[in-house]
Amino acid sequence: MQEEIKRMHPNIKKVLVSEEAIQTRCAELGKQITEDYRNLGKVPVVVSVLKGSVPFLVNLIKYIDLDIEFDFMAVSSYEGTESIGDVKIIMDLNRSIKGDHILMVEDIVDTGRTLKEVTKLMFNKGAESVKIVSLLDKPSRRVIDITADYVGFTIPNEFVVGFGLDFDEKYRNLPYVGVLKDECYQ
Ligand code: IMP
Repeated sequence: MQEEIKRMHPNIKKVLVSEEAIQTRCAELGKQITEDYRNLGKVPVVVSVLKGSVPFLVNLIKYIDLDIEFDFMAVSSYEGTESIGDVKIIMDLNRSIKGDHILMVEDIVDTGRTLKEVTKLMFNKGAESVKIVSLLDKPSRRVIDITADYVGFTIPNEFVVGFGLDFDEKYRNLPYVGVLKDECYQ
């Protein structure tokens, strides 16, 4: 049964980051985040950007050994594989974050537009500090000068799916990060 689930999806050309590597990295990042915030004497409010960051959030928070709270927001920035360049808030936070220390959880930093806008919004809402943890980083695509404070994996300039990342809303449930076969885009 377990083997069935782990079988590679027929539309995947290659796996870029394995399930095992993601789990190991989540444990490392969680430990680092725990130490950093504990040393600062701060407890972060973890803000997950829907929908892509959900699998990463679920795995990461298991390893954050602090009394965190979390909340969600949704933004739109992509249709298919192309950036539409304009970031729209389609679901806002459900709570006040005035004076709070925010840890944004993202699936990927690509052009950087989403995180720039979302970070600005957090400060406008009165956040005391904003840090970013992203599962993936694609620095070669950056158009905005922004760096995540914690990065799971730096990847080359390829469109990826899995572990939260989608192509037209599909493949988010794959337990690994992979690249689709070329014919999937035709
Ligand atoms: P940015 O604003 O260009 O940094 O894009 C951020 C958002 O674009 C991410 O949260 C993803 O939802 C989406 N995105 C960027 N690159 C990829 C990719 O390779 N696969 C799937 N979604 C992506």
